[in-house]
Amino acid sequence: MIPPSSDEDVSLAKIERAYDSPPWWYDVRGFFILTFAYRSTLWEQVRLFGNNIGPVHLEGAIGSGTLFGIILWWKRFTRKSIGSVVGFDYAEAMLAGAIRRFRGDTRIRLLKADVGSLDLPSSTFDTANVANAVHCFPDVDAGFRELFRVLKPGGTLAMNVLLYPRGAAPLRWIAERIDQWGMKKGILYTPYELDDIKRRICAAGFEIEWDDITGNTYNVRARKPR
Ligand SMILES: C[S@@+](CC[C@H](N)C(=O)[O-])C[C@H]1O[C@@H](n2cnc3c(N)ncnc32)[C@H](O)[C@@H]1O
Repeated sequence: MIPPSSDEDVSLAKIERAYDSPPWWYDVRGFFILTFAYRSTLWEQVRLFGNNIGPVHLEGAIGSGTLFGIILWWKRFTRKSIGSVVGFDYAEAMLAGAIRRFRGDTRIRLLKADVGSLDLPSSTFDTANVANAVHCFPDVDAGFRELFRVLKPGGTLAMNVLLYPRGAAPLRWIAERIDQWGMKKGILYTPYELDDIKRRICAAGFEIEWDDITGNTYNVRARKPR
């Protein structure tokens, strides 16, 4: 007899289905979500995540690798090298896009994994980035605990987290509609209240080193204490 699925299994299956679109469509859709739901810009993301890549780096929920590819291009352009990278994602279709994109780049190893249960050794990575994905995780606390575990003491985690829409009525209204659509489709698990997400980051053991808010997005760099 097949054992009944847990809520966690059901949510992960929903992620696989929700992110089962061709990478090109994911990129077009992502541009609109970035502009009208996050109310953030690509440049803000390149700056946040591009400045948090150490010699041994973990790229969490890498998706099809579009953003990480732009960051690598930016690193090359500014003549900064990168070391070794492990990237993971739970959705096969997204991961397949990343595998195609980074084929032949021996610095990058890609694997399918749930952020809440990483088959990676503890205290391994200097840095970890989770771009545009914290609010997609069905169990964000398990994700934070795992990211904490695999970082070296002193290692840093950069993330941007979607907040409940704020600001003036027309823009807030548009963001609310996009969030509702995203939750129904399964590409968004939930937006967060600022205090709630900060509390969850700290509960996993991190110290918040730097943060700010742009539009509806909480940008944060947190450190695993030495
Ligand atoms: C909005 S996309 C962001 C992708 C990429 N970081 C970017 O910025 O383009 C969110 C990604 O999170 C992944 N994801 C959601 N829940 C996950 C989980 N529990 N474990 C690993 N990846 C997950 C999805 O498959 C999807 O590729």
